Amino acid sequence: MTTTLTIRRPDDWHLHLRDGEMLAAVCPESARHFGRAIIMPNLVPPVVTGSDAARYKERILAARPAGSDFTPLMTLYLTEDTDPEDVAQAHRDGIVQAVKLYPAGATTNSASGVRNFDRVRGVLERMAEIGLPLCVHGEVTDDDVDIFDREAVFIERVLDPLRRATPGLRVVMEHITTADGVEYAQSVDEDLAATITTHHLVINRNFILAGGIKPHYYCLPVAKRERHRLALRKAAISGDARFFLGTDSAPHTDPLKEQACGCAGCFTATNTMSILAQVFEDEGALHRLEGFTSRHGPGFYKLPVNDDTITLTKSNTPVDYPDKIHTGDGPVTLFDPQFPLHWSVADASSG
Ligand code: NCD
Ligand code: ZN
Repeated sequence: MTTTLTIRRPDDWHLHLRDGEMLAAVCPESARHFGRAIIMPNLVPPVVTGSDAARYKERILAARPAGSDFTPLMTLYLTEDTDPEDVAQAHRDGIVQAVKLYPAGATTNSASGVRNFDRVRGVLERMAEIGLPLCVHGEVTDDDVDIFDREAVFIERVLDPLRRATPGLRVVMEHITTADGVEYAQSVDEDLAATITTHHLVINRNFILAGGIKPHYYCLPVAKRERHRLALRKAAISGDARFFLGTDSAPHTDPLKEQACGCAGCFTATNTMSILAQVFEDEGALHRLEGFTSRHGPGFYKLPVNDDTITLTKSNTPVDYPDKIHTGDGPVTLFDPQFPLHWSVADASSG
């Protein structure tokens, strides 16, 4: 029986760190295990320009625990007013690693997102020229499209036409939740990848809705049917380099989750590596964990893998995680996978 596993230090290719008190509390949770993370720009107001991103990056660096090398990889929030030259300059200066597309109204703090895709054509063409990836929240927001169908409809109506209209544009389908997302990512050989969250490998929509409504399992894109969860698991453990980890760890305080109109987002930064080790072990694929968490992401983003390693160990007694982490803004509930976690990150060493 495998009881220890040493892998290259993982990275998180989709992370919400927020700002202020929340940033101070959650940054160390990601910095503990992850080397780098793609930082989502959906602050209020959003991170729109290169100078917004540079200033936000400084705040994140200041929130790291002493001695931490955790590196935030910054993104810009694409709006209909985004200036292609500002994007290109921020890329040249090494300030941003990607641009984030939120269809307007798709999710938390997405009001400034894109309504009319013709208005961002110039930015997308410039990004294709310079090889800067577009991270896509892949859901349509039309009222007449059922929320469980929004990803599949987005692929057909928006993503595929947009990719065809912009040859060379490098796209990350973020937090895919459906077999349709898996199939689309697999159908394209170049310039397309997909991230998968920890929680979508664990929960289906019953977790949210069966036996009473469970706001801490509500996130966007919303978890789908079991057959979609199984398709995501198969993709994650497949060894296919087009799939890699983006936790979408998205902290909201308990009062904001547990109300009549609760916020979307699952907070998984703290126990993600324990959960993933369990999922991969259950699938007989522990040898593929490193690809998913530590190798495929840098491959797509054309960055080196991390120099150092982490070691996961398995113990007979489950690891005790707190139910909540405490922040200056209030308590944040940690994602509960509803199975015991026997793997933990034991030790970090240079290598
Ligand atoms: C994210 C958030 O809270 O910022 N919420 C979520 O459910 N994933 C926004 C997002 O990435 O969609
Ligand atoms: Zn997100």
